[in-house]
Amino acid sequence: MSEKLHPVPQEWATRAHVDAAKYDADYARSIQDPDGFWGEVGKRLNWITPFTKVKNVSYAPGNVSIKWYEDGALNVAANCVDRHLATRGDQVAILWEGDDPKDSKAITYRELHEQVCRFANALKSRGVKKGDRVTIYLPMIPEAAYAMLACARIGAVHSIVFGGFSPDSLASRIEGCASKVVITADEGLRGGRKVPLKANTDAAIAKVGGVDTVFVVTRTGADVAWTEGRDIRYEDAVAEASPEHEPEAMNAEDPLFILYTSGSTGQPKGVLHTTGGYLVYASYTHQLIFDYHDGDIYWCTADVGWVTGHSYIVYGPLANGATTLMFEGVPNYPSTSRFWEVVDKHKVNIFYTAPTAIRALMGGGEEPVKKTSRASLRLLGSVGEPINPEAWEWYYRVVGDSRCPIVDTWWQTETGGILITPLPGATDLKPGSATKPFFGVKPELVDAEGKVLEGAAEGNLVIADSWPGQMRTVYGDHKRFEDTYFSTYPNKYFTGDGCRRDADGYYWITGRVDDVINVSGHRMGTAEVESSLVAHEKVAEAAVVGYPHDVKGQGIYAYVTLNSGVEGDDALRKELVAWVRKDIGPIAAPDLIQFAPGLPKTRSGKIMRRILRKIAEDDFGALGDTSTLADPGVVEDLIDQRQNKA
Ligand code: WTA
Repeated sequence: MSEKLHPVPQEWATRAHVDAAKYDADYARSIQDPDGFWGEVGKRLNWITPFTKVKNVSYAPGNVSIKWYEDGALNVAANCVDRHLATRGDQVAILWEGDDPKDSKAITYRELHEQVCRFANALKSRGVKKGDRVTIYLPMIPEAAYAMLACARIGAVHSIVFGGFSPDSLASRIEGCASKVVITADEGLRGGRKVPLKANTDAAIAKVGGVDTVFVVTRTGADVAWTEGRDIRYEDAVAEASPEHEPEAMNAEDPLFILYTSGSTGQPKGVLHTTGGYLVYASYTHQLIFDYHDGDIYWCTADVGWVTGHSYIVYGPLANGATTLMFEGVPNYPSTSRFWEVVDKHKVNIFYTAPTAIRALMGGGEEPVKKTSRASLRLLGSVGEPINPEAWEWYYRVVGDSRCPIVDTWWQTETGGILITPLPGATDLKPGSATKPFFGVKPELVDAEGKVLEGAAEGNLVIADSWPGQMRTVYGDHKRFEDTYFSTYPNKYFTGDGCRRDADGYYWITGRVDDVINVSGHRMGTAEVESSLVAHEKVAEAAVVGYPHDVKGQGIYAYVTLNSGVEGDDALRKELVAWVRKDIGPIAAPDLIQFAPGLPKTRSGKIMRRILRKIAEDDFGALGDTSTLADPGVVEDLIDQRQNKA
């Protein structure tokens, strides 16, 4: 692994919010005195009732309880919008860049306020009240932010479902949190292609029921099916609604949103984030890690359907009074220069994207980048998966002209905000390392038995104490929350990631150690893909693992045992890929399918995934002990038929 060091540039050490000395001092204090530290940081928000308590956390087995600022009251939308009106009402809050380069729009804080208030009133007029769950299934249009903030304003809990998910995936998420309201658009538009969001919503609702209101934003103007009494044109609803609305006082621990995410087992779980601690953490990390200063133009390329979009397109930046760019399109439409053209068009200073996008663009060479100026860029960021040192160096040298530091930010849906990251004015960079913990974050490496490893070591990454942005529970299933995150290593939060710490105390995330795969920065549970495959009439059994993929980071490799008498061929491969795409969504489509008459199982019938992973990696020299297999013979056949031959 590369150990090249990029020291903090002198100008950064001077201009940044945090330099190396301040990092050391504040980090030490944040760990020694979390109440004092986070008590001060908490004051960055406007509280309706100021908090007097800061941290109240137990990781004790059977009694996990996480509370921050628990006696304070505030409103997230008021913090993200209203409090900026006096000082920056005419400043652009959201800079929207459409799929078509001719399409863009600037929304000031004053306009944002009006839109959010109107839609808050529209939601109320349909009977939505504090605590109700609202599902949002929208493309990357400003209405997605209006909808999130309108929910927050009235105290409704939003659950955003990524627009790339299928009707079935949408249905199970609507059902999972019993949403009576869905907010969608007629169609989405990505890379010139239309996504039938309203039709998908109709199909989902037909499956689960319980939805009495669907707000439909007009995006393309397509002619869509309409259910009278249930479906409401968004534009009509906001036109009729009042532009005045008094934000609801929410307790710091009232839920803000649910976001479904994949785990090792079963169906996706509803990660629940609450109000006060989440917003303190999202805004504080956004300001310090991206070194945000007034007037900066900040662009995070994520989708609001993922946690990165929640914390670092909408809540963190808007709480800081930032100008946040929201992009509807994709990196390669109409050309592979698009990202950089957008940077030049809007004079973007801070740019935050995923390694998969960088690797894909890297494949197209330097010319599409170099023909743009990018002179406005000052800082680059990376998130979602480990960034390989080659991609890091390319990002640094070609995109950033060797002048912009890169913050490689490690975090998770569960963590609400970034936990391990460089601070650009404080941390010398090592390509491929997420470097050091943020304030208040106590990472530890443990071995399989839970023994804490000291110094330079490699093990499983746990976090030994809480931070304000931590998830509070799995919606409706607190036991699953405890079992998933606090039972493997009692009294610690288990991340599911493997990690190495070097002699300088730098952290290097090595990837998931559980049955979650990270495809283009999107989390996918192998169990979800398996259950989709076995639902196909020709499939008897399936085992899914990840394998290294040049662009996606990990690809999806499926071993499929067919029902007896069924012949496996390329046509069936295509059929199965299409099946999973339709069932879960395009992001879950297997990249490689191997038809396997037998899978390696222990005598008790457990599939030995370790072996399947090795074969999928084309690294079967070191299969380890296969003597416990019920039928060691299947391994030879699997190796012979492997689909990922070098
Ligand atoms: C991975 C995305 C290495 C990791 C914010 C984690 C990373 C999972 C990084 C969470 C990074 C995220 N370096 N790995 N900088 N960032 N990951 O919930 O495996 O979609 O557990 O949250 O992505 O994915 P999630």
